[in-house]
Amino acid sequence: MNVLILGSGGREHAFAYKISQSKKLENLYIAPGNAGTAHCGTNVNMAATDFEAIKAFVWEKGIDMVVVGPEDPLVKGIYDFFKGDEVLKDVAIIGPSKAGAQLEGSKDFSKEFMQRHNIPTARYQTFTKDTLAEGLKFLETLSPPYVLKADGLAAGKGVVIPNTIEEARKELTEMLANAKFGNASAKVVIEEFLKGIELSVFVLTDGKNYKILPAAKDYKRIGEGDTGLNTGGMGAVSPVPFADAAFLKKVEERVAIPTLKGLQKENIVYKGFIFIGLMNCNGDPQVIEYNCRMGDPETEVVLPRIKTDLLELFEAVAEEKLDRIKLEVDERTATTVVMVSGGYPEDYEKNKEVKGLDATKDSIVFHAGTKADGGKVLTSGGRVFAVTSFGNTIEEAVAKSFKNAEIISYDKKYYRKDIGKDLMKILAGK
Ligand code: AMP
Ligand code: GLY
Repeated sequence: MNVLILGSGGREHAFAYKISQSKKLENLYIAPGNAGTAHCGTNVNMAATDFEAIKAFVWEKGIDMVVVGPEDPLVKGIYDFFKGDEVLKDVAIIGPSKAGAQLEGSKDFSKEFMQRHNIPTARYQTFTKDTLAEGLKFLETLSPPYVLKADGLAAGKGVVIPNTIEEARKELTEMLANAKFGNASAKVVIEEFLKGIELSVFVLTDGKNYKILPAAKDYKRIGEGDTGLNTGGMGAVSPVPFADAAFLKKVEERVAIPTLKGLQKENIVYKGFIFIGLMNCNGDPQVIEYNCRMGDPETEVVLPRIKTDLLELFEAVAEEKLDRIKLEVDERTATTVVMVSGGYPEDYEKNKEVKGLDATKDSIVFHAGTKADGGKVLTSGGRVFAVTSFGNTIEEAVAKSFKNAEIISYDKKYYRKDIGKDLMKILAGK
């Protein structure tokens, strides 16, 4: 099979790494990719949202399957673009239709969808500029902290959680009246704050059948002890100790199956990943959000644990034969530690030379924001690497990730040294 992966982060390197091991693979291309993906296949200088360029490339190279990493091309309708093209309609696209991607593309849509299908989620209401006054009133009915979500995609920044009513009122006004997130905050969802521990569960579906993939916990804040600004993710652990079989069964029965049935009932074509962001509220799952793609950095711990040939899985998704595949999962724990550029998630510098990559061992170093420059590797983004390791325990795995994060060097590198610590405490009963 000739495969094209769209995207350029650690998630896409993890896809490329797994796909490059498939016995079904002939040629692998990654657009635009990074210095790491270049070792798994051929990088192509093409944006993941440039549909016309992608179309020409797919045609020229005889691509059989496009694996879509980020949400942007999905929300913009890459699935429909391919399926509506006489020449390209038989190319397999791993990712949902534009309608399916609305689960991520519109918070209002996803909340309404959950309500329609009785999927447990926080109480909420949606407001626009015209109903700002009602929104301010609705805030009074909630207790702090307040959760305000811009309806559309806002580069991961659209959720604001003020602690006081004054801040919440100000924030709501800025989002609706002053278009703080542009068109993305033309509608704002206000919802109840959920208390609990967060985790992510991933479902791969062919539209009829599904596989629940290993669950993972992400570390979103920049600072140790979950402090400071939200980021795209500073580390991940899989499996999640507090997500035992009983909890995961609840997730399957109360969330995954109703979600898939809901999509079918609404005739929404979905052949790809559903990322379910959940809160474990005293043993009961509540949905925080859906994403229409895999998580980053969760992919960097989930995919290494999957032993089944990834292209076999994807082929089964395209052919609606996922029920015929057995999903084999490595029982060991995988951890990943994300190495970032100092200053991230705010301003940071790029083009720092990376050293020490050849000296790492016992980890898989997934590249995120890197680029090749002759024989050198330079930093090119906020998140630079995700260092993934296996162990029989979280301690054992994460110790390897930390050791290698220490060996890799570049100016102003930073990573959290407490990835997995909270879970170790839970396991120790503290
Ligand atoms: P989202 O983009 O919807 O994932 O929201 C970003 C983050 O805000 C989530 O990962 C949660 O940590 C937090 N969050 C979102 N909604 C809620 C909620 N209803 N209660 C508590 N925390 C939330
Ligand atoms: N790690 C969270 C996300 O991918 O959205």
